This record gives sequence, C-alpha cells and structure tokens, in this order.
Amino acid sequence: MKALDYHQATKHSWASIHANPHGLDYANMPRPFKIYSDLERRPLPAQLRETGVPALSAVASPGSTASGERVPGVEDLAAILASVGITRRRAYPGGEMQFRGASCTGALYHIEVYIVCGDLAGLPAGVHQFQAHDFSICTLRSGDHRHALIEASDANPEVAAAPAVLVLTSTWWRNAWKYQERMYRHAWWDSGCMVANLLAMAAALELPAAVVLGFADAPVNRLLDVDPAHEAALALIPLGRGGAPPPAPGPAIAALGLTTEPLSEHEVAYPEIAAAHADTSLAGGAAVWRGGLEAAAHAPPEANLVALDAMTDDALPQESVDAVIHRRGSTRRFARKEMSFVQLSTILERTTGAIPADFIAPSGGPLTELYIIVHAVDGVAPGSYAYRRNERALEPLRQGDFRREASALGLGQELPGDASFNIYYLSDLDAVIGRFGERGYRAAQIEGGILGGKAYLAAYALGCGATGLTFLDDDVTEFFSPHAAGKSVMFLMAIGRPRRREAD
Ligand SMILES: Cc1cc2nc3c(=O)[nH]c(=O)nc-3n(C[C@H](O)[C@H](O)[C@H](O)COP(=O)(O)O)c2cc1C
Repeated sequence: MKALDYHQATKHSWASIHANPHGLDYANMPRPFKIYSDLERRPLPAQLRETGVPALSAVASPGSTASGERVPGVEDLAAILASVGITRRRAYPGGEMQFRGASCTGALYHIEVYIVCGDLAGLPAGVHQFQAHDFSICTLRSGDHRHALIEASDANPEVAAAPAVLVLTSTWWRNAWKYQERMYRHAWWDSGCMVANLLAMAAALELPAAVVLGFADAPVNRLLDVDPAHEAALALIPLGRGGAPPPAPGPAIAALGLTTEPLSEHEVAYPEIAAAHADTSLAGGAAVWRGGLEAAAHAPPEANLVALDAMTDDALPQESVDAVIHRRGSTRRFARKEMSFVQLSTILERTTGAIPADFIAPSGGPLTELYIIVHAVDGVAPGSYAYRRNERALEPLRQGDFRREASALGLGQELPGDASFNIYYLSDLDAVIGRFGERGYRAAQIEGGILGGKAYLAAYALGCGATGLTFLDDDVTEFFSPHAAGKSVMFLMAIGRPRRREAD
C-alpha cells in the first residue's frame, strides 16, 4: 500500500466513525513500557538542575548555534530524557495512570527512545534504551556503534559529528489496540510531540540537535534489535558535536534475541501499519532524499492581512522550559473565554520558525501550512484564517461564529468548539511525495506533530491550555476550501483558557 492509499484508507469521516464497531478490550490493553526481562538498569541522575531558559525562547530556537565541541554528559541526557519521561501520576480505581512530558494519543505511550553513543561522561559507549517507568537506561550493546547510523544516513553531517544519537521508535500494537490502522499516523504525531520537547531542551542546554528522517531503515532496526513488523525506527536525533570520532565499522551487527515482558495477552494484527511503513522505507541512498521542499514560487493572493502582534523577547514569561514541560497536560475542558491577539500571535510566531530537520532546507519551505478558526480572540473577528508565515500575518478567509462547525470537525467533541482558537496543520501531500518520494509522507506527518508539540508548550508557557485532537479529514479541507483545496490535515491543536472546576 502506498502512502497516499494508506492515508486515504485511514481517513475519518462521519460515516466511517459511526460504522466502526471497534470496542476497547481493557483486559488486553498493552503495557505502555518496553521492559527487557534480563537486562540490568542503570539509574539516571534524578536531581536535575533547571535550565532557567524561558520556554518560549527554547521552543522558538532553530537549534543551537554554539560553535566548537559540545559533548553531552549523562546529566544532559537525563535532562533531555526527563522531558519525555513521567511527569504526573494520577490514581484511579484499580491502578495508577502515569502521564509523560509529551502528549500522546490515548496516553498509550508507544514511542521508545534509544541512545546510540560513544563514551560520554557518566555513560560508556553503547546502544542503550531509556526506561521511562523508573528513569533508568539499560544497555543492549556495549561499544561504539555510531558508524551504523552514519552509514544508514549516508553520512548525514549532524549524525556524523554527534557524540550521541537518540533513535525514536514506535511499537505499533501499543497504539493500534485503540486506534487500529489509523495508528500509523499517530506514530508521527506522538513522536513529533516528543521531538518538540527534545529540541526545546537541547536548545536550552545549548546542545546542537537535529531531526533526521533520511536513513536506510533495515540497518537502524537491526542495530536496535527491533522487528519492523512490530516496532520500527522513526527518527534519528543527533545530539551534540565533536568528541572522539567513532571507530571504523566492526563486524556485522548480530541479532540479540533479548526477551521483553509481554505487552498484553495477545496482539491483534493490523498489517496495513507495517505495510505503510515498508512502503515509506529506504533501502539506501538517504543523501539523495535529503533537502527541503522548494518554497512555493507563486505570488500569494492580495488580501487584507492582519499583521501579528507578538511579544518581544523582553516581555516573555520567564518560566523555564523544563518547568513548563513538567506541568504541561492536555486541557480537558475549555472555558469559552477570550485570549488576546498578542497571545495568538506569540504562539504562531514562536512555533513556526525553522526546525533543524533534514527535510527542511534553510532556503526551502516547510511541509505544512497553518489554518486557523478563531472563536474568541480579543481584536480579531471570529472566523477562519490562513497563516502567512513569510508576512507574519493572518489572511482572513470567512467571518462567522464557527464553534459548532469546529466541534463537528473534531469528531463532535466539545474541546474544539469551546477553545479560543484551533490550528489545523495541512500539507499538500502530492507536492511532498512528488519531491521526496513515499518517504515524504513521514516527514509531513512528523512536521505536524513537531509543530503541534511546540504549540502545546507555547500555550502553557503563556498560562493557557491546549490539546491535540483528531479530526474528520476531508471535512476540514472542505471547510478551508477553496484556499485549502488539495491539502490534507496532518495535525489539529485546540488552544484556549482551561475551565477550572470551581468555575463550572
Ligand atoms: C495527536 C493527538 C491527538 C489527540 N486527540 C485527542 C482527542 O481527539 N480528544 C481528546 O480528548 N484528547 C486528545 N489528545 C490528548 C491525549 O488524550 C493526551 O495527550 C493524553 O491523554 C495524555 O495526557 P496529557 O497530554 O495530559 O499528558 C490527543 C493528543 C495528541 C497528541
């Protein structure tokens, strides 16, 4: 199945939602952790120093520009991993729910983080895995295996220079349990939200970091000892620069056959997921794939633009990025109250700058465009808008109160109807796949997730609330058409003022 076929087949429509009899089998719910039965765990330093870097500075950073060597130690790694680790616990009858720094569809936490590194202060060279449940790491392979990633990425310069590379994977069943075939989209959305946190923390620690999607899949999966029928590598995040260069390639990577705790009693197979991943896989030639999409050459239409009015650096809230990540959650009810245009502008401006990703060339454009429904923003007429990144302005599309429509577009949920505004991230998938081949599908989806993850942090930094949401695919496109004709939704964020219990 090719990427566009997969996308088409997993669209939500009003009819598809109501025709799907899928129920949740709680007795067979997968555990949200990958636990190796026989590997020792090495605790990570738990006492972390706050970075002191304001969240909106870190979120907006295009990546550290610090020159010279910057080799992370285990304390840096701990601070970075904590941004996607457990941040909140909530007791419920029969157990405890553990929430993490990054939002995740269904709180099913199917994304794992591996660390492939040379010798670092406090951590010997190896292929390690982050154990979120007790904030530790375990070692799958000892020794420096970075060359495998350098080869797989066709010597991507950031990977080649990095003392450590994080590798994010998804374990399909852990999310497919609830979302069935559509979960392959979630692999990108949920890892994208994590990437937003990881990049922000790396920026706060002045560690160079990047998002690399151009790599041959099989050797990376082999290095992590994962079977892409069940779990597969999604993205490489090179961290830092310099230190001892990796040794020359050693013997072929052997299978490890490590035992892991069963995820659930049994797995239900959704072969469309692994097939979509296989169709977007690369056997090699990642260097050819690299490089951004050309910026649209056509002149944008004349319009009465509404210029952004964003906060300046000295007006930003001073709460540090680590603290904001720690208290981030998803807003469960919005109060239907106004936000200010400065807040809306700051969120747009601070979250849509350059992402240090191999699919975005410095001169090229991003893969997604933002469409907005404004319900309640001081000084802005309620209605729909397209965001003009280059002009830092909103282009009005239609005026009106669209709370009911927004709720319907979000599967009838109240959240998108009650928010102050919603951001829809749309991509021209034909253009993206035309430029990048099938692999481009992954890039467009993860870009939506990264931008959504940044918007979560920006909204919380401003004292507001936010939640990612699912959506009726074609209905959203139609709502924003003719402007959005031919584009597909990659992500939806609702942003507003949380409704507190006492205000109910
Ligand atoms: C891509 C995405 C889609 C989501 N869709 C919905 C949704 O449709 N409805 C909802 O109530 N929450 C939605 N959520 C929020 C998750 O349920 C929430 O992130 C998860 O329960 C973890 O809780 P936390 O964000 O408070 O840490 C979504 C989150 C993401 C990342």
